[in-house]
Parts: sequence; C-alpha cells; structure tokens
Amino acid sequence: MTRVRRALFPAAGLGTRFLPATKAQPKEMLPLVDKPIIQYAVEEAIASGLENLVIITGRGKNAIEDHFDISYELEKILEERGKSDLLDLVRAVSEMVHIAYVRQKEALGLGHAILVARDLMNDEPFAVLLGDDVIEANPPCIRQMIDIYDRYQVSVVALMEVPVEETTRYGIVKAKQMSNGDEGLFEIADMVEKPPRDKAPSNLAIIGRYILTPSVFDALAETGTGSGGEIQLTDALRRMLANERILGYKFRGKRHDAGDKLGFLQATIEFALKNEELGPAFRAYLKSIDLDKI
Ligand code: UTP
Repeated sequence: MTRVRRALFPAAGLGTRFLPATKAQPKEMLPLVDKPIIQYAVEEAIASGLENLVIITGRGKNAIEDHFDISYELEKILEERGKSDLLDLVRAVSEMVHIAYVRQKEALGLGHAILVARDLMNDEPFAVLLGDDVIEANPPCIRQMIDIYDRYQVSVVALMEVPVEETTRYGIVKAKQMSNGDEGLFEIADMVEKPPRDKAPSNLAIIGRYILTPSVFDALAETGTGSGGEIQLTDALRRMLANERILGYKFRGKRHDAGDKLGFLQATIEFALKNEELGPAFRAYLKSIDLDKI
C-alpha cells in the first residue's frame, strides 16, 4: 500500500482573467482579505498531513517564493518597533513548512506544468491543489480525498455540480455513482475538457483538487495540445482511463472560484464577513449600503 505524502501547486499560469493586476504580480498572490490565495491551499495541504510541498512557478512569480521565505529586514523592523503580533504572523508563514520550487519555462498548460515536476514526485501518488480554488471544508478537501485514495489506491478527482450553462468552463465527467454506500463517489467512464454545452456528458465538473498515481506522467508525456492550445490534464486523465480506474469524489465543503473576478469578489466578501477582527464592522457597512444608489 502506498501513501500520499507529496503535494503539487501549479502556479505558473498567466492569470489573464485578472489583467492588468497580474501583469507584474502573480495571480496566486492576490489577497483574499489579508492572505494570498495560494496560502489557503498550502495551509490545506499542511492540515491534511502532506509533508513535501512543491510549487510550480514561472516567469514573474518570485513574489510567491519570497512570501514563503524568511524576510529578515521586515522581521527586524517589526521587532524594533515592538509589533510582536505582526512579527508572529510574518514568522508563521515562513516557519510553516519547507517548500521546493520548480519552474515551468513556458505556460503550456496545467498538464505540462505537472509534467515539469515529474522527478520530484518520486514515483509516488501525489496531491495536486490549484490555488484558484479556495475550499472551506472540515476535514479539508484534500484530506477527504487522501482517505479515499487510501481505500481504493487509484486516482481521485474532486467533483462539483455546476449549472449546465457553465459546463463550457470546466473538465466534465461521464460518471456513475458507486452503489457501495460510499457517499459522493463516482466511477468515471470518460471526461472532456471545456465541452460545448450540447456535448457535456453531465453537469459534474472537475475542480482543482486531485490525487494522482504516477502513471499520469506517461499519459501526460503522450498527450498533445488540446483545448486552448495547452496540454490539458483532463486529456491525460482520459488516456489513463484506458488502463486504470479513476474515481470522482463530490467533496463535502464549499468551493470559491478565486481565479475568476466575480468569484474572487464573492469570496472576499464572505471571508471578510467571517473574519474575527473585520467581520462585525464590515457587516454593518454592507447593511448600510443603499445598493440602488451605487
Ligand atoms: P487557469 O486555467 O486558471 O489559467 O490554470 P491561468 O493562466 O492561471 O489563468 P487565466 O485563465 O489566464 O486567467 C489553472 C491552474 O493551472 C496553473 C495555473 O497557475 C492555475 O493554478 N497553470 C496553468 C500552470 O501552472 N501552468 C500553465 O501553463 C497553465
């Protein structure tokens, strides 16, 4: 029996939906209230017991490495000024975990980004977390999926029902609910990336959490460019289905699409309302707004 110990965070995409904000700043560093979105995924992996974390970065993404590194100058200034609360906050980020980085030299797609990290995955099953998807769940979403991997020892993708008009934005699966009492588990028969509405086999979309067996790397190496001219992970998973099972899992929790402007704004409002320090004042402010006048 193999265990999932490694986590991969692809963060080398161009973030075009957020331009011009992402021209010189990685999308992954946009803050949801006071934390960059990638930190939510990193904290989820740590809370799920994952030990080896690898972030895939690209050109212009140095801020991600700096964020998880020690900032001597900042720590010194905070110390001198007696700002111990802020100092603790800053230190907590760099002390959280050791992270390795790999560079994807060209943004050739999510599938290509994962292939770049092949050597670091040590021929073991691994987790993939896309920072764009911020998921509130207890236990954490990727922990729920590791538990399923532990039972079945096959790849697992996170699924979510989406409105039919949104199926063109996701990888969509053709799948059958498993009848063995495992709630939310689906046997995947096929999948397709961003299908036109009339070709979508269901409204079950793959979202940014995966447990993958190492055979995904051979499948990725054989996969050519697909939708959007990129090497798509969905196409490689489809290839894998010829030789092995892949399970879909409708996770328990709430997913925010922070990679999209509207989703990002919605998440910001919800996280701000739940924030201990800001919540009450922000709630009062929202209630005071006359929406018809803005
Ligand atoms: P997206 O489809 O959200 O693409 O990638 P993007 O480039 O980040 O953003 P938009 O669509 O242009 O606004 C899904 C995930 O795959 C990573 C992204 O960083 C994101 O976490 N990715 C995508 C890579 O690491 N490399 C790529 O070449 C493409």
